[in-house]
Amino acid sequence: MTQTTTVYVPCDTAAVAVGANDVAQAIASEAKQRKLSVNIVRNGSHGLLWLEPLIEVATPNGRIAYGPVSPADVAGLFDAGFLSGQNHALCHGVTQEIPYLKKQQRLTFARVGITDPICLDDYQRHDGFKGLKRALGMASADIVEAVTHSGLRGRGGAAFPTGIKWKTTLETPADQKYIACNADEGDSGTFSDRMIMEGDPYCLLEGMTIAGIAVEATYGYIYLRSEYPLAINTMNTAIERAREAGWLGKNIQGSGRDFDVEVRVGAGAYICGEETSMLDSLEGKRGEVRFKPPLPAIRGLFGKPTIINNVISLASVPIILDKGAEYYRDYGMGRSRGTLPFQLTGNLKRGGLVELAFGTTLRELLFDYGGGSASGRPLRAVQVGGPLGAYLPESQWDVPLDYEAYMDIAAMVGHGGLVAFDDTVDMAEMAQYAMEFCAIESCGKCTPCRVGSIRGAEIMEKIRRQEDLSQHIDLLQELCDTMEEGSLCALGGMTPYPVRSAIKHFPQDFGLKPSPQSAADPA
Ligand SMILES: Cc1cc2nc3c(=O)[nH]c(=O)nc-3n(C[C@H](O)[C@H](O)[C@H](O)COP(=O)(O)O)c2cc1C
Ligand code: SF4
Repeated sequence: MTQTTTVYVPCDTAAVAVGANDVAQAIASEAKQRKLSVNIVRNGSHGLLWLEPLIEVATPNGRIAYGPVSPADVAGLFDAGFLSGQNHALCHGVTQEIPYLKKQQRLTFARVGITDPICLDDYQRHDGFKGLKRALGMASADIVEAVTHSGLRGRGGAAFPTGIKWKTTLETPADQKYIACNADEGDSGTFSDRMIMEGDPYCLLEGMTIAGIAVEATYGYIYLRSEYPLAINTMNTAIERAREAGWLGKNIQGSGRDFDVEVRVGAGAYICGEETSMLDSLEGKRGEVRFKPPLPAIRGLFGKPTIINNVISLASVPIILDKGAEYYRDYGMGRSRGTLPFQLTGNLKRGGLVELAFGTTLRELLFDYGGGSASGRPLRAVQVGGPLGAYLPESQWDVPLDYEAYMDIAAMVGHGGLVAFDDTVDMAEMAQYAMEFCAIESCGKCTPCRVGSIRGAEIMEKIRRQEDLSQHIDLLQELCDTMEEGSLCALGGMTPYPVRSAIKHFPQDFGLKPSPQSAADPA
């Protein structure tokens, strides 16, 4: 009998974008030609994106990684005996021993890259549904208490305590309540939501179902951006299979509790990631920010109490229920408990996903993981937390990544995305871009944002031409005050963060004299 070897080839968008499907095909046909039996499993990505397509071979010594593999490499890999884990120029040894992966603290991403994303058995073999099983035997208020005690805060950007939000909805009586998962993932440099949905979709469904039981909601929506077609397919397949197996729908696993989910595809507006715009969009309207109160937790989707949580917030819930709130809150620092999947992008040698406890630093992420700049030039600035996040100079790269520590330096951790720039970056251009981005993406409801961002971009043009420099810098600062204080939501309210941080830390790019503060002061 010929022995069958399992070969893993990721089906994640990042791997497919660099040819993973062609590599899978090449492996299948090469094996056929050589009369060798291979079982190709399309797994999620481990998040070592510079090595994609990163293929693995199951051996008695563990999974052996090879990458980046192109179809042209496949015959050579067979010749070298990769099916038994033999060495090759593209071999990286045992996957879990690769330092980038080994040093991580993967809680939310524990299964991603390891399992077959849509295989329910594989999910359960790797601790899947353990949290939900426990939750099904608990009173709603106890689930809410566990999530509160874990210290989990919203991973979508605002870092609001998840348990407190859930408590509000639980305590609001209504004939219908909803769970709305925010999978719009509009921030620059972010992809962790997508990686979970493509690499471990049942984890998100499990988290949403636990949320539903916790607040007595029976229906959920995943608001998923149209730019993520593979995630949409994977989530829809996972929903169908979970429903067939009794993990969604009526009377889940005979518990007497009901919860079902559907995917709604967003058309791709940054503002539709803002929770109340998302509700408008889910209701079939043009996404526009709503006034608060009422809070969505009390009056949200279709006027009903609605929990809105980010994908990562919800995908972090199963492990909290399974391993306990204490286990989760043991990671992290201060009021930032647990882990965050940081997403390393921009000018870095080793871009990818790095899940670590709060408290790590940018320096560690940029150099120990990211390997420094891809261009070989010195890194100069890092934008953390998406397009509304501050640009951090080197003097701030040792500040611990913690929500409060970042607030103290007028920055934000947000969804954990970071975009690195080398010393060729023009920070005045980046400041202008921040204003232009706001102008393009503004929902238009309030004047400081709708008009202010356009005026801001115009002023930045004049500053870059060095026209009446000090007068225009003063005007820009005044405009930033107005946007910060007068905007209805964080799009207008936080666009000043990248603008002001650029002026403060990189004044020479604006034609200003560097102050002693701009070089060294971490505040
Ligand atoms: C302009 C803007 C865009 C946003 N985009 C997203 C997004 O893409 N995904 C997300 O989860 N939260 C986004 N948020 C934050 C949401 O409004 C909301 O705080 C979040 O979905 C709540 O979930 P959480 O508590 O789990 O973080 C955005 C906020 C603003 C102001
Ligand atoms: S700040 Fe901008 S995006 Fe937010 S409500 Fe006002 S106009 Fe809309």
